[in-house]
Amino acid sequence: MKPQTVVLLLLPSLFLGLSKATSTIDDAGFIYTGFGGANLTLDGMATITSSSLLQLSSGTAERKGHAFHPNPLRFRKASGGRVQSFSITFVFAILSIAPNLSSHGMAFLICPSTNLTSTGTRGFLGLFNRQSSGNPSNHIFAVELDTIQNTEFQDINDNHIGVDVNSIHSVQSNYTGYYDDNQGNFYNMTLNSHEPMQVWVDYDEVATHVSVTIAPLKMPKPIRPLILTTFNLSTVITDLAYVGFSSTTGSIDSEHYVLGWSFAMNRSTLGIDVDKLPKLPREGSKNSSKVLEIVLPIATAILVLVVGFAILQFFWRRFKYAELREDWEVEFGPHRFSYKDLFSATQGFKDKNLLGVGGFGSVYKGVLPTSKLEVAVKKVSHESRQGIKEFIAEVVSIGRLRHRNLVPLLGYCRRRGELILVYEYMSNGSLDKYLYRQDGKSSLSWVHRFHIIKGIALGVLYLHEEWDQIVIHRDIKASNVLLDTDMNARLGDFGLAKLYDHGIDPQTTHVVGTMGYLAPELARTGKASPLTDVFAFGVFLLEVTCGRRPVEHSRQGSGVSMLVDWVLEKWHKGLLRKVVDPRIQDGFDAHQTTLVLKLGLLCSHPVADARPTMRQVMQYLDGDMKLPEQMPESLTLGMQFLTRSEGFDYIMSQASTAVSDAGTLTGLSGGR
Ligand SMILES: *[C@@H]1O[C@H](CO)[C@@H](O)[C@H](O)[C@H]1NC(C)=O
Ligand SMILES: *[C@@H]1O[C@H](CO)[C@@H](O)[C@H](O)[C@H]1NC(C)=O
Ligand SMILES: *[C@@H]1O[C@H](CO)[C@@H](O)[C@H](O)[C@H]1NC(C)=O
Ligand SMILES: *[C@@H]1O[C@H](CO)[C@@H](O)[C@H](O)[C@H]1NC(C)=O
Ligand SMILES: *[C@@H]1O[C@H](CO)[C@@H](O)[C@H](O)[C@H]1NC(C)=O
Ligand SMILES: *[C@@H]1O[C@H](CO)[C@@H](O)[C@H](O)[C@H]1NC(C)=O
Ligand SMILES: *[C@@H]1O[C@H](CO)[C@@H](O)[C@H](O)[C@H]1NC(C)=O
Repeated sequence: MKPQTVVLLLLPSLFLGLSKATSTIDDAGFIYTGFGGANLTLDGMATITSSSLLQLSSGTAERKGHAFHPNPLRFRKASGGRVQSFSITFVFAILSIAPNLSSHGMAFLICPSTNLTSTGTRGFLGLFNRQSSGNPSNHIFAVELDTIQNTEFQDINDNHIGVDVNSIHSVQSNYTGYYDDNQGNFYNMTLNSHEPMQVWVDYDEVATHVSVTIAPLKMPKPIRPLILTTFNLSTVITDLAYVGFSSTTGSIDSEHYVLGWSFAMNRSTLGIDVDKLPKLPREGSKNSSKVLEIVLPIATAILVLVVGFAILQFFWRRFKYAELREDWEVEFGPHRFSYKDLFSATQGFKDKNLLGVGGFGSVYKGVLPTSKLEVAVKKVSHESRQGIKEFIAEVVSIGRLRHRNLVPLLGYCRRRGELILVYEYMSNGSLDKYLYRQDGKSSLSWVHRFHIIKGIALGVLYLHEEWDQIVIHRDIKASNVLLDTDMNARLGDFGLAKLYDHGIDPQTTHVVGTMGYLAPELARTGKASPLTDVFAFGVFLLEVTCGRRPVEHSRQGSGVSMLVDWVLEKWHKGLLRKVVDPRIQDGFDAHQTTLVLKLGLLCSHPVADARPTMRQVMQYLDGDMKLPEQMPESLTLGMQFLTRSEGFDYIMSQASTAVSDAGTLTGLSGGR
């Protein structure tokens, strides 16, 4: 493609025209189909791009650019004659950072000089300045393609075409658009639409008509011009004049391009072959890279934020729902709950779901997401990895324990520093709530209490003797006895205590259990056995019958009073009946209460070997075996030795040590 073609051999005067063209003056005209290699006179920002486009201006700086056909054109045949008819057509495109955002416009112009250094930007389009605008000595004819509404110059809108003569105030202007040839309907066009468009400017020397027509690129010239005005250009254009383009940029990033251009003197337009025009920079190449200069950082910032947030969210969720899972746990899979499920079951371990804080941690009520099963979720803080494997194995094996007097353990979950046990939810709460009701109302009847006692005895018996291995509960007490919907007693929390005394050397053995239920030898040796459970069960019997806590702070505040001692003392004085809970409403079976009280004392015998086994306890309760005749004195002797003297002090000191050491012995005060 050789873009600069100096024109036409059809006319008689062609020899002259051609010879003039090769010298300094073009008489006939020219045609550019693209501007590759064209010798245009450029100033300011104007440049010819590597893709053969004439780029008049680009960027956001307030600058201008001009491009002229290098040689002046002879507009008058003879000096003093009138300006000849001429026809110009050009294809242009305005690319602003975003369509519809106003950038500055551009103009086609005819002027006597290519020196336009003193012209202004902004509204002046590089054609005039404030002083020169309106001065007839300018001898400038221009067609402005204006994308800014400058009210100072009476611009009609920010998308108009105007005919300017010596002044930036247009002689006539109109909204950008065209009339279609058939219906004559008007179609709006947007100058800075990024689309190439074609403009025709025609002057008729006889009628002195100036017409301007615009149409989308591939459309032939519409018959009806957009602007048709009468102006005698003989009074404006000089004999020799340059033709070219002017453009300015402003604060909105924009680029102005001319793709093709032709000029014909005293002839109709030399058609531009639009198919051979160079291509505009594609969106995504230079232009859009300019756009990206602004959009990309914002988009990147947003992306970084979004990704950052997603990562944070991811890690937060990972952290929030993090679990500890080890290879050996695979076999316990089915008993393993996901922390996420438990988290949602308890609504994030919310306080309102807190059932209680006891034993080794807090218990929350929850509803499992899928099965909708009501559960009690116990969070046990557990830092040590020691013995956890054995413990989990035990939890799982205990999970297989099924007995109507045991709270079913459904499974577990582990996190860092935390062990979570999932139990079936017992709707009626723990027994101590009923035993120590503040309002003193509707206390449990003796019949019910006896039923509970027998139930728990069966449960402990099952743990001790009826399961494959001996399970020592280690923390039998009223608050660990739960009542199901049918008010049946079920023992909960079994085996938990073991977690805390496993594999620890005897020097630092923690006494685990609850104050008041601790067998003396447990306090001494730290070694739990079925008989230490029996001891606690004995205290439990007294507790249920008397409705008193195993350890009560005496009213005078001078130390504590042990329930066992108190019952023993009453028995000694022959007042055993007086110890029975006065809140028992419907009277009671004196024989049964005496049996239970004596059995309770026997079970909590300070000498382990003197205690019965759970099987024997069952036989006594069922009346299958007669309680051995015992004198209160025999018990008192032992009790006095163990509880009143150093033995008890020892228990106390050990218990306090346990609290300070491990913080595991919660609920110590009063044996809750
Ligand atoms: C380009 O045009 C200028 C001005 O008419 C002229 O001086 C120069 O020699 C031309 N250059 C070429 C390569 O045609
Ligand atoms: C941009 O202009 C076109 C028509 O020229 C119009 O359809 C479109 O809605 C405009 N967009 C905005 C954002 O104004
Ligand atoms: C262009 O015109 C200005 C005055 O408007 C003048 O100062 C300058 O010298 C001229 N430049 C040329 C190259 O003629
Ligand atoms: C636009 O052109 C039409 C026809 O040439 C004319 O009737 C109308 O007044 C013009 N509008 C303006 C704003 O000049
Ligand atoms: C053309 O644009 C003008 C000015 O923006 C507006 O008044 C007119 O309604 C538009 N016409 C059509 C057909 O969109
Ligand atoms: C146009 O102006 C020229 C010079 O002033 C004059 O000779 C000519 O008669 C005018 N043409 C018309 C149509 O008025
Ligand atoms: C312009 O062209 C017409 C024919 O199209 C011709 O009659 C006329 O003489 C020409 N004018 C000049 C000044 O050459």
